[in-house]
Amino acid sequence: MAATAASPIPPFPRDFLWGVATSAHQIEGAAAERGACVWDAFTAVPGNVKDGTTAAVACDHYHRYREDVALVRGLGVGAYRFSVSWPRVLPTGAGPVNAAGLDFYDRLVDELCAAGVRPVPTLFHWDTPLAVQEAGGWLSRDTAERFAAYAAVVAARIGDRVTKWITLNEPAEHTLLGHALGEHAPGRRLLFDALPAAHHQLLAHGLAVRALRAAGARDVGIANSHGPTWPASAADEDTEAAGLYDVLLNRLFADPLLLGRYPDGFGELMPSDDLAADLDVISEPLDWYGINFYQPTKVGAPLPHPTEYSGLTLPPELPFAPRRIEGYPVTDFGWPVVPDALPELLTAFRDRYGDRLPPLVITENGCSYEGLDDQERIAYLDGHLRALHRALEAGVDVRGYFVWSLMDNFEWAEGYRRRFGLVHIDYATLERTPKASYHWLREVLRAQRA
Ligand code: NOJ
Repeated sequence: MAATAASPIPPFPRDFLWGVATSAHQIEGAAAERGACVWDAFTAVPGNVKDGTTAAVACDHYHRYREDVALVRGLGVGAYRFSVSWPRVLPTGAGPVNAAGLDFYDRLVDELCAAGVRPVPTLFHWDTPLAVQEAGGWLSRDTAERFAAYAAVVAARIGDRVTKWITLNEPAEHTLLGHALGEHAPGRRLLFDALPAAHHQLLAHGLAVRALRAAGARDVGIANSHGPTWPASAADEDTEAAGLYDVLLNRLFADPLLLGRYPDGFGELMPSDDLAADLDVISEPLDWYGINFYQPTKVGAPLPHPTEYSGLTLPPELPFAPRRIEGYPVTDFGWPVVPDALPELLTAFRDRYGDRLPPLVITENGCSYEGLDDQERIAYLDGHLRALHRALEAGVDVRGYFVWSLMDNFEWAEGYRRRFGLVHIDYATLERTPKASYHWLREVLRAQRA
């Protein structure tokens, strides 16, 4: 793959929000200084994480955040997306606050503001407090109420300086990987019986939007993963299977959020005594909608054996099975690099949701590659920024773009063997070293400001 294209990346609007993203469990470490979460329990089980590691130390960001904010500042981005760890703020999920934990986010926000970087906190990035899990976790409706109470605690502390909020990160992946397939914490393998986890996360989102706004918050959004679904062939069994996968990834969460209804056949499967009332909460109008985009997926009819896909093993009981996408470069993770799939996704979103679609923000985009001279990452980001610009030219209202990730970190069930960072982490010394992609992005942003 060619490293850099000769022509400069075309200019984005002057007020376009450029950022980098991380999440608490993937970078903070300092596990002994917070309550336990589902990922602590999951990573303690041999075999759950491919390299046998845990996030107990990770990048030790909890103790090194000043150095990390300096790296964010050095890039010249306008915003930093991070997540607040629920078990660090409320070690048992409710009840007494961990003052030191809340102080940490207070100092982090101050540090960002002093650096001229807008803090964009995500309230939930998969690290459910273990005590909440033991009380039923996302399969229990109470978790939605607890989450809203936690949102209010965070807003009361940092809401005076935060001007952009994200409630949940990728509830679709958390439902699929964590509750349907057991590849992520909490390790449940419920297949379609995982759907209550989707409903309760959506409810938690809506209640949190209300709690944030009651605390004076503006500019509230959510970050969901999306990607075009390509049928493996024109045969009915393939288009039907791809259609179902597309509903699960692209509509099961976006339809209730943006249209106030579930896709056909799904509302009946959700645990609720009053679905209309729940949907009213869930569809609380958003100020913006965040899209995490990595790759398109090719999907066909089920196969009689497990399917390996993106580091996952999908069981044959699922009514669909992903296929390999040929003809494109792949990342170290084996994910196909298809920049054109981004405008394809964005225009499809605009066409489907029309007036109901608030402004979009790309809340994650990035790739995993080894090495400090990461020319492939530069090519990936370069290709996706040009593709994103084409979507803007086609009239899609996108207001910002965040690279995943500021630095290498704990990539969930893969452990530390996937490196998504613009900054390299030496996990033995915790030394931070900006990669070629960091320097490249800094120059791209400098040119955008010129
Ligand atoms: C999406 C998730 O939000 C993030 O936690 C993860 O590291 C990236 N995708 C890469 O897999």
